[in-house]
Amino acid sequence: MEKGLFITFEGIDGCGKSTQIGLLESYLKEKGKEVLLIREPGGTAVGEKIREILLEKKNDSMKPLTELLLFEAARAQITEEKIIPATEEGKVVICDRFFDSTTAYQGYAREMGTELTDLLNGIATAGRSPDITFVLDIDPEQAYARRVGRGGEEDRMEALGLMFQQKVREGYLKLASDNPRVRVIDASATPEEISEQIKGMIDNVI
Ligand code: TMP
Repeated sequence: MEKGLFITFEGIDGCGKSTQIGLLESYLKEKGKEVLLIREPGGTAVGEKIREILLEKKNDSMKPLTELLLFEAARAQITEEKIIPATEEGKVVICDRFFDSTTAYQGYAREMGTELTDLLNGIATAGRSPDITFVLDIDPEQAYARRVGRGGEEDRMEALGLMFQQKVREGYLKLASDNPRVRVIDASATPEEISEQIKGMIDNVI
């Protein structure tokens, strides 16, 4: 993308994205970069409303196509309202999830197909893509244990269970296998080790 840098973090639920995003944000700020931290779904007033609908467990009658279109609607909003302006101003944008989540969760795990998700991802982002994407790869049982340790109630997507998370994981590995933008990181390592790897890769692109 033009001028700035657009970084995304991906992985199954409980993979440790939030910790790594926080560590990278501090590192980039220490280097004097202006950083915009956002998340998907959400990151805008409209997108946060859509997030509530998507994640509320009581909305379990939601159809897969409705789910897919709501994720894309939130994405269209954040792309135009936040990501494009910030990168044009030269900022580093770090987004907690982006269109690879749709490919992995809806395209592969929900089996809606990547032809459909590629098409809608392209429309929602007007063809824009991250400069670099980190997939934090972890065994779903280990991720589940982390989520339980963190406490709080599970959301509508997390409630889909371990088999679903396994399909999401496989989806990420498939999409990464033929895309040099996507770097798979072993997320069973310590947070410090993971962070060092990520910083090393970022140093090579800034
Ligand atoms: P989060 O808990 O990491 O913020 O993500 C919200 C949930 O929504 C998570 O279970 C992943 C899921 N999701 C999709 O299924 N498709 C998408 O396109 C996005 C962005 C998230």
